[in-house]
Amino acid sequence: MSIFDRKRILNKKLITKTLDEMMPHEHLEKCLGAFDLTLLGIGAIIGAGIFILTGVVAATQAGPAITLSFILASFACLFSALSYAELSSSIGGCGSAYGYAYAGFGEIFAWMIGWDLILEYGIAVAAVAIGWAAYFNDILNALGMHLPMLLIKDPSQGGIINLPAVIIVLALASLLAIGIKASVRFNAIIVFVKVITIFLFLVIAGNHINFEHWENFMPFGWQGVVNGAALIFFAYIGFDAISTAAEEAHHPQRDMPRGIIASLIICTGIYILVASVLTLAVPYATLNTESPVANVLLRLGYPMMASVIAVGALAGLTTVMLVMFYGLSRIILAMSRDRLLPHRMSKLNPRTKTPARIILLAGCLISVFAGFFHITVVAEMVNIGTLAAFLFVNVGTIVMRKTHPELPRPFKVPGGYIMPCIGIVFCLYLMLNLPWVTWLRFFGWMFVGLVIYCYQLAKRDYRDRHSDLQS
Ligand code: ALA
Repeated sequence: MSIFDRKRILNKKLITKTLDEMMPHEHLEKCLGAFDLTLLGIGAIIGAGIFILTGVVAATQAGPAITLSFILASFACLFSALSYAELSSSIGGCGSAYGYAYAGFGEIFAWMIGWDLILEYGIAVAAVAIGWAAYFNDILNALGMHLPMLLIKDPSQGGIINLPAVIIVLALASLLAIGIKASVRFNAIIVFVKVITIFLFLVIAGNHINFEHWENFMPFGWQGVVNGAALIFFAYIGFDAISTAAEEAHHPQRDMPRGIIASLIICTGIYILVASVLTLAVPYATLNTESPVANVLLRLGYPMMASVIAVGALAGLTTVMLVMFYGLSRIILAMSRDRLLPHRMSKLNPRTKTPARIILLAGCLISVFAGFFHITVVAEMVNIGTLAAFLFVNVGTIVMRKTHPELPRPFKVPGGYIMPCIGIVFCLYLMLNLPWVTWLRFFGWMFVGLVIYCYQLAKRDYRDRHSDLQS
């Protein structure tokens, strides 16, 4: 098969299933329903954003109007979520935006989006692991146990390795490699713990709200609200990871849209409530702490509940890592099936039916980042990478309707092209409000991706010409 035939088939593969017939691959086990998908979404969404970032953003960017920042960021996500719902239910596959880009735009776009998603998911797991380790150490300290400084700090902070961050990444890698059922059960329990924790916070802090704290509602003006939204957008990342579970869903056509939209709506409601209660319970300027939710309870005179919240936050961060890691492994699986990454990685473990090789390899790489690097700045790249993927999915929805109108669409975004267009505008608006240095790093990463792609293309071309000559 010449390279041109292969490209033609690959570009059509999700529509005609030709590639599946020509290059059959092992399928992941189908075991997820709409409820599991919703819980996976909540697992991935609620985490560092609300438990860590909210306080800093309220105190330094948006003030009490952080509630508006949450609403603004939710628009970018809600419109994009509808596009994700349409494409995941009609195209499916485990590659998420990577797969949709393949179907709608061809190989090079697919590679670039896949490369972008690897950045988003990989860095998100590493960054959240570092946040997790900080919370974990705080809890150990509160219990009177102290780990040696050399083992809890990365070299830039004078330590040797951030061991708790490494251990949690490797533990989650083992859990994911064991099987999706075990991971989903674990996720469900932990999601339950974190939702109860948030509910407790709302009830307790809700008794102390004082509307005087909202008198200066927008201290940094509208620009503060927008800057806050561009940062707090991080809190919503994760619902897109559900779309990587399409191959493992019993009824993806019906359940993907339900899982994606339900989890996002639930989390948006929770975020608006938490942000409102936080800024109504104490003056916004005092929220500049890394654990605002626990801190507010401490200041309101509930030390015991503050510890409970810290445990809930730890739980929240754990499921974020779990689901983002899961999404990463499925995207790499899709790319290796298409031979854009080494094909041997796509082999599933015969017993667990999981891409164990990918999970363990990714686990080792992420743990290096988590253990030896300080990722606070790099974490901003997660936002720009995700917004770029959302932008692409909105554009993809429009393009797929034009180029493949015949595709069955069990879920169709209502209102024609209006909603995907609004999604595009919101994503661009938030991206343009990110610091220029983040843009620079993002372009750097994408440039590296382009170089790798050109190298692969040249290698494949050489191999094909060589085999043509031999035959
Ligand atoms: N939305 C996830 C979090 O807030 C990434 O941790």
